[in-house]
Amino acid sequence: MIADVVVDLQYGDCGKGKISHALCRMNEYTHVIRYNGGCNAGHTIYHKGKKFVTHHVPCGVFFGIKSIIGPGCVVHVDTLLEEIETLEENGIPARKLLKIASNAHLITDFHRIEDKKDKTIGTTKRGNGPAYRDKYARKGVRALEDPRLQPYIISMYHELYENPEFKKIEILFEGAQGFGLDPDWGDYPYVTSSHCTVGSALLNGVPAKCIRDVWGVAKIYETYVGAKDFEGPDEVFSEIRELGEEYGSTTGRPRQINWLDFDMLKMAARINGVDKLVFNKMDILEMVDSWCLYDGPNLYEFKSRDDIEMWLTGKLEMEVNESMEVMFSGDKEYI
Ligand code: IMP
Ligand code: MG
Repeated sequence: MIADVVVDLQYGDCGKGKISHALCRMNEYTHVIRYNGGCNAGHTIYHKGKKFVTHHVPCGVFFGIKSIIGPGCVVHVDTLLEEIETLEENGIPARKLLKIASNAHLITDFHRIEDKKDKTIGTTKRGNGPAYRDKYARKGVRALEDPRLQPYIISMYHELYENPEFKKIEILFEGAQGFGLDPDWGDYPYVTSSHCTVGSALLNGVPAKCIRDVWGVAKIYETYVGAKDFEGPDEVFSEIRELGEEYGSTTGRPRQINWLDFDMLKMAARINGVDKLVFNKMDILEMVDSWCLYDGPNLYEFKSRDDIEMWLTGKLEMEVNESMEVMFSGDKEYI
């Protein structure tokens, strides 16, 4: 068994959907597995030039690959069924390819009503927090208990270890949210309720030694949605928000913008053991021609894209992993 893992190194919305989609095109995966979160996630995917936003369904469905919502996830059934319908209407065979681990948990309508009352964290109001709370309080409801999900339910153990259909299993783990939203490593309490690191992928039933590549995904600037103050004072941020379409793909909320925080990126890359790192949205900073980042408390301004690329690559190779492959992308569909 081999597994590649896609993790977000900032606050979500860094382009995990795009990278997962691109990796499916480049590799021979037998499975794509979502390993955390629920429909709080919004993955924007351009497939053959057409825009899709997925909340629950892993991107393997775009390439005929079996796609599993893993046991680390929580599922809102109506949202999921709607998403499957939309994909089907657009010619993507989600009904056939999607599977759900029997031991994933459900987000109930009660969870959503409760989450709608949140004022302090600025959640996505999708019921995510209450669903995970009930799971760990041992009073949750599992996916196998909902009759509407029956056609999709599988045993994760059987699928990965006792399925004669596969001689060799090659998995892409598609993560949700990001390092800065992780309950342990993020800015608690302004975090989500499931873990957002490589460790979280392993909880879905795969041994640690199967991991081949860890793909860290970042943006060349940062964004955050939620209740804390995050946006910096620079006037260019409102321009970046418009050009980069920085509005929540789940809630439509404007994302707060700031320059990249290198210390946090370094910590996220180290803790996740990243060996391939993609900086997305280079095209947006090209348009405003402004290249800055924070190194510790200091804000550095670079003269050009080349300068910031050289600085970041050098620092990451020196301080995180000397054989790290660092990539810079400015395309919606391709790396
Ligand atoms: P929750 O996950 O809905 O409970 O929200 C907790 C925090 O995580 C809030 O600040 C949300 O805006 C943020 N969050 C949750 N999911 C995502 C995501 O997919 N992208 C960006 N932020 C997210
Ligand atoms: Mg998103």
